[in-house]
Parts: sequence; structure tokens; C-alpha cells
Amino acid sequence: MKALAIASALAVVPLVAVAATPAPYPAVKAKPAAASSKVTIAMPGDLSFQFKPGAGSQVAATYCLTCHSSAYVSTQPPLDKAHWAAEVTKMRKAYGAAIPDKDAETIVDYLTATYGKS
Ligand code: HEC
Repeated sequence: MKALAIASALAVVPLVAVAATPAPYPAVKAKPAAASSKVTIAMPGDLSFQFKPGAGSQVAATYCLTCHSSAYVSTQPPLDKAHWAAEVTKMRKAYGAAIPDKDAETIVDYLTATYGKS
């Protein structure tokens, strides 16, 4: 009986914790599914999952959109090549992005040409 009381007390705790935690983002607004069952959900901070066109944009899309949206790039101020190179290195070394050297160079050139300054 005592074990059951402890078990049921533990079962209640997570529910209370979830209810008491304020939502980290504004409530997701899903359009009501009227005629079709298609629902659109705007993800927080998701401005886009596409890069601007340009040489190397496909390579960047392949490696840089697996963890976050392109907004992480497009909301940066124009960065020079050294800064974009440092950014790509940070993604690889600090966050573990698996990008071969050759493709990393292509991405740095693309970012500098498209989101950079010389
Ligand atoms: C393995 C996951 C992963 C991949 C792949 C990845 N990133 Fe990131 N990126 C992160 C994380 C984690 C952050 C930090 C998020 C935060 O602080 O909210 C971040 C943040 C950023 C930022 C914001 C500035 C900063 O330094 O925090 C930029 C710009 C960025 N990434 C660019 C890129 C580019 C360009 C690529 C492709 C070369 C890339 N990311 C690939 C995980 C990744």
C-alpha cells in the first residue's frame, strides 16, 4: 500500500510540473482543419528553410539546415569571409556538424558571396 502511494505520488508530480512551467514560445497557431485535414504550424523562429540562390546554395542547404533554419544565417549582419569561416568551423567543432573539408570551403564561399561583405 505504501509503495502504491509513493508510485501514485510520483505519477502526479510530472503533470504538475508541466502545468506550472510557462510555455517557452507563444502559443502555436494552427489553422482549423475545415475541409481538408491539412494543418499549418508556424514553428518559433522559423523564417525559412531555404537559402538564397547562388553557387553552393545546395551544398549549404544539405549541411546547414539539418539542425536549424536558414534564419540563423540570414539574420546575421553581413560577415566577411574570415567570420563565415569561423562560423562554419564553430558548427563543425562545437556542435558536431559533419561537413567534409571540401564542402565546408564551398559553403564559406557561398555564405561570403551571398550573406557577406568583402
Ligand atoms: C549539428 C547541428 C548544426 C549544424 C549542422 C549547423 N549548425 Fe549552426 N548552430 C547550431 C547550434 C546548436 C547553434 C546555436 C543555437 C543557439 O544558440 O540557439 C547554431 C547557431 C548558428 C548561427 C548563429 C550564430 C552562432 O554562432 O550561434 C549561425 C550563423 C549558424 N549556426 C550557421 C550555420 C551554418 C552556416 C551551418 C552549415 C555550415 C550550420 N550552422 C550548421 C547547430 C548546427
